[in-house]
Amino acid sequence: MTFATLPSARFAPIPLGPEIRIWPPVVLAPMAGVTNYPYRKICKDYGAGLCVSEMVSSRGILEGHDRTWKLAQFGLGERPRSIQIFGCDPIAMGESATRLREELDIDHIDINFGCPVPKITRKGMGAAAVVDSQNFRKVVRAVVRAAEPVPVTIKVRIGMSDDLITFREAGRVAEGEGCAYIALHGRTAKQMYSGKARWEFIRELKELVKIPVLGNGDIFEAPDALRMIRDTGCDGVVIGRGCLGNPWLFRNLKRLFDGTGEANRPPIEELVGVMREHFRLLVSHYSQTPRSAALMMRKFGTWYVRGLQGAAMLRTRFQAIEVEEDLERILEEVLCLGYESGFRDPNEGTRDLRLNE
Ligand SMILES: Cc1cc2nc3c(=O)[nH]c(=O)nc-3n(C[C@H](O)[C@H](O)[C@H](O)COP(=O)(O)O)c2cc1C
Repeated sequence: MTFATLPSARFAPIPLGPEIRIWPPVVLAPMAGVTNYPYRKICKDYGAGLCVSEMVSSRGILEGHDRTWKLAQFGLGERPRSIQIFGCDPIAMGESATRLREELDIDHIDINFGCPVPKITRKGMGAAAVVDSQNFRKVVRAVVRAAEPVPVTIKVRIGMSDDLITFREAGRVAEGEGCAYIALHGRTAKQMYSGKARWEFIRELKELVKIPVLGNGDIFEAPDALRMIRDTGCDGVVIGRGCLGNPWLFRNLKRLFDGTGEANRPPIEELVGVMREHFRLLVSHYSQTPRSAALMMRKFGTWYVRGLQGAAMLRTRFQAIEVEEDLERILEEVLCLGYESGFRDPNEGTRDLRLNE
């Protein structure tokens, strides 16, 4: 099926509480160190239906940690204000939801039940929080009640390991406790990011619950989203690694869901323009010196130049930028480059993209 022939009527906006409709049904995944306001703004402007903050600790919120409250900052005029929290203590989770509702005027809370990092799971948080199903239910209930009327959603993995599958119970609890949707990443915590996301579990979850199900895992180009929806019947998709250095994926997806046009990759001038914009937003949002924003751009820059001719050399140069002028020098060079043939063909299926690329 091509973009042109896609029947857009098959798709519907996903309700998120009484006020918000997610359209297109495409969510920017919460990603630590990535989905702060600057990147959320870029993705939103390119058409993401909902942009969720990186995960913030419920304890950090309650204890007033500076770093946590910085992570929870929204941009001027940013709506909806969508924040992801993590923790496993029902009381602390409920109280942090109350604080966020009262003090940050948030519009949506997502709960992280998918983090696979041992530092988190060892403390019973992230993906491990679903294992104790009674406590898990208490956490979800506490957040839903404290957040009211703000809608609450959860994001889970299929389980801790193949021997400890938890997504079915997660689905039943999410539905029973009044979550607005459940997002499922089709891997276990043990898998981290290895192997392929198992979309068949997304399909199973969709058949199990009546609340909207969002599928997550291995969407790298717009047609992947279409395949996931077709194969699983899910209501929408959540996109993580596929949009790193590639916010145009959201534009392509919006066109796909609106049925308004072809996917394409950005001309180099646009790519450079977005890198400049990203840097400017990092400087202004964090009220930082251009130097510390330049340091943050090291990571983002290496993602943006993926697939350009000479990308390996550019990545090395990005790793060394110290000041804005270093960034500008690289961008001037990028303007003279082209893409490697075949790269970022927006109509291609899944590319093999790894975190450490
Ligand atoms: C750098 C990075 C940071 C992440 N941080 C979070 C996070 O804070 N909260 C969360 O729920 N998932 C986090 N994830 C997982 C993603 O939200 C997503 O579930 C996962 O990457 C699978 O989707 P993908 O195949 O589209 O990348 C992170 C992933 C990456 C790559």
